[in-house]
Amino acid sequence: MGNKTLAIIKPDAVRKNLVGQIIAKITEAGFKIKAMKMVRLTKESAGGFYEVHKARPFYNDLVEYMTSGPCVPIALEKENAVEDYRKLIGATDPDQAAPGTIRKLYAANKAENAVHGSDSDENAAIEIAHFFSRKELLENYVD
Ligand code: CMP
Repeated sequence: MGNKTLAIIKPDAVRKNLVGQIIAKITEAGFKIKAMKMVRLTKESAGGFYEVHKARPFYNDLVEYMTSGPCVPIALEKENAVEDYRKLIGATDPDQAAPGTIRKLYAANKAENAVHGSDSDENAAIEIAHFFSRKELLENYVD
């Protein structure tokens, strides 16, 4: 069981000025912020991040959406981080998400769904490295 996960506050949530409310939900749930930034992804960066979905019919729209405005990637730490964070955000489709989850509260639909969360410890490490260099993670280390 790993203790790190990557969250992204996606462009729709940034546009709706929800960054503060979403971060409050995350930290109230016991996650610690290890690194965070606001970035406008390039098509290459978003396309690479979602490479696993390349064959899906929604891939081009997904890259379009993720590059439509700035997003906020956040490296999080907590015991059982991947599973606990996925519980906190709820199902991909907000219509299926449990009450009180971030997507139930803030997502418009299953494509523009406010937040991302890593789906395994292995992917969490890959995704954190996509956004944050080792140097950034070490320099900003908070115990
Ligand atoms: P995320 O958890 O970031 O992982 C992949 C993303 O693709 C997902 O959130 C949604 O933004 C998007 N996505 C997943 N399924 C669909 C779908 N059926 N139609 C459109 N977009 C989707």
